[in-house]
Amino acid sequence: MRGVIDLSTKDYGFDTAQIHAGYNADEHNYAVSPPIYQTAAYDFKSVQNAKDLFTFKELGCVYARVGNQTAAILEERIKVLDGASAALAVSSGMSAISYTLLSLTEGGGAILTTPYLYGGTVDNFKKTFPCFNIRIDTAKNIDVPSELEKEIKPDTKAIFIESISNPNGFLLDVEAIADVAHHNGIPLVVDNTVATPYLFNPLKHGADIVVYSATKALSGHGNVIAGLIA
Ligand SMILES: Cc1ncc(COP(=O)(O)O)c(C=O)c1O
Repeated sequence: MRGVIDLSTKDYGFDTAQIHAGYNADEHNYAVSPPIYQTAAYDFKSVQNAKDLFTFKELGCVYARVGNQTAAILEERIKVLDGASAALAVSSGMSAISYTLLSLTEGGGAILTTPYLYGGTVDNFKKTFPCFNIRIDTAKNIDVPSELEKEIKPDTKAIFIESISNPNGFLLDVEAIADVAHHNGIPLVVDNTVATPYLFNPLKHGADIVVYSATKALSGHGNVIAGLIA
């Protein structure tokens, strides 16, 4: 998106990246603090410019539901911090989980998950996912990865775990679980809300997709509801 530079190619340390990645002040009137673009729609420089933006010949802002510069800075930042190929900001952590798993199970199927989960996720799995013809299988052997393979069924579309579970702080062997997932041709999705990329980087340990409730440690002040997918 226009106004965002890709710092992932530069060799910044974590502390520098967490305050600078994705933001180029000279493209925002040299504002030190990233501006909040509180707009739904955008003007176009010309008819040709509108045509180019709508046909993706030129990247830029057309409508805030599909892209907003403030959100784009956040997306770029988490992309860099997690070492992901892309990131998407959504309205809550629960949206991040739902977007990801509903996409992976399009048309039905099952998610194999862990008993060590945030309560809101458990509720969502029990009440919402069955309405979309998606079964949630809770693994009996999530902490014995050598046995976990037996719990993968022909319609299992992904494994979903929390890297540090909320609230009981249970730790799982992410690498071993990723190996089981990949051996069966399915992705491992990790909710890294409690750890944040500062403490643990699931992608470096075999995970394919990372989701966050940015409402927690990532935003840090208890004043925003937000979610991220990397
Ligand atoms: C581990 C974990 N995942 C997901 C969520 C849901 O996030 P949100 O409240 O932003 O929807 C939470 C919220 O506490 C959480 O702790």
